[in-house]
Amino acid sequence: MSFKFVIPEIVSPCGVSDAAKPRRVEPLTDADRDLKVVETNGEPITTFQGTSNPYIDYESIDLLLSLQHPRSNGYDEMCFIIMGQAKELLFKSLYFEFYNLQLRIRDDDTANAFVIMERCKKILKLIVNVWEVLSTIKTHGFNQFRDYLNVASGQLSFMYRHIEFILGNKNKKMCDAHRNVPHVYPALLKNFSSPSIYDDVIRLLHRKGYEVAPECLERDWTEKYKIHLSVERAWLDVYSDPDPENVLYMLGEGLTEIADIFSQYRHRHFVSVERILGFKPGTGGSAGVGWLKKAVDHRFFPELWSIRTSL
Ligand code: HEM
Repeated sequence: MSFKFVIPEIVSPCGVSDAAKPRRVEPLTDADRDLKVVETNGEPITTFQGTSNPYIDYESIDLLLSLQHPRSNGYDEMCFIIMGQAKELLFKSLYFEFYNLQLRIRDDDTANAFVIMERCKKILKLIVNVWEVLSTIKTHGFNQFRDYLNVASGQLSFMYRHIEFILGNKNKKMCDAHRNVPHVYPALLKNFSSPSIYDDVIRLLHRKGYEVAPECLERDWTEKYKIHLSVERAWLDVYSDPDPENVLYMLGEGLTEIADIFSQYRHRHFVSVERILGFKPGTGGSAGVGWLKKAVDHRFFPELWSIRTSL
């Protein structure tokens, strides 16, 4: 775009506390609110003490809205930055859900696992839809700010990597890429070295009486997941009763749906990248679409896909 654009000022940076910790906000009760509504005569509160208010402080909104810094004169850069940040937040939300989904499965609490899975699907769909906005960035618009990325690339998203690892796509190189970041690496390494959700589902199959080989129940969790015949057989057994009352069958289908939506995300990214970059190399040092193609072919929970031919 060649027109002159303006970035409207929203927050004056000098007033923002940049501490990455929660700000003090006093909890209130129903009784407190009943009193307030009498005080305000039913109108919303519009006068506050100090230099902030509880809405701003509860979610550190002024800080959040001060973190968008376009470097170029390219119009599309603001959109690129905000959509990128929105995705990071959504991936964080998704990881919180996946982490707790795994704990529910570990506790044999499938009822709550299903509730969490429903939310996971909705968040994932939202993430896929962010590409609707990002794909409005065209090649010329992207070229206007691309140089300013240096070697920055989504491939270095540690939040995305957490998601890949907890779902079972372990990759040592991608974990090691963060080893120089002491406030990020320990948590990522822990996730990398721990069982994935799928590993816990396989252990659940075993606890429910399905025969699973010992090497699938205890192994070096940093190793890339390999399809196993005993897991395939266990799922085939589960799928011989495709009844909504069959909790493990419903769990298998729920996971397949998550893997399906995730594949849609990867595909959207891949096609958008080809549309924006063509066959140019990526900023992260890869060959670009050629390298991303491998990711498009990856499927989480592989036995849940491989058994379909035999059903
Ligand atoms: C809209 C413009 C975008 C373009 C042109 C683009 C391009 C690319 C390219 C070429 C790669 C391969 C690695 C490399 O950089 O050499 C890549 C990887 C990646 N990108 Fe993007 N990307 C875009 C936006 C995003 C956004 C907004 C996100 C999410 C925050 C994202 C997440 C990722 C991830 C997670 C990978 C690694 C994929 C994997 O490990 O399987 N990308 N991107």
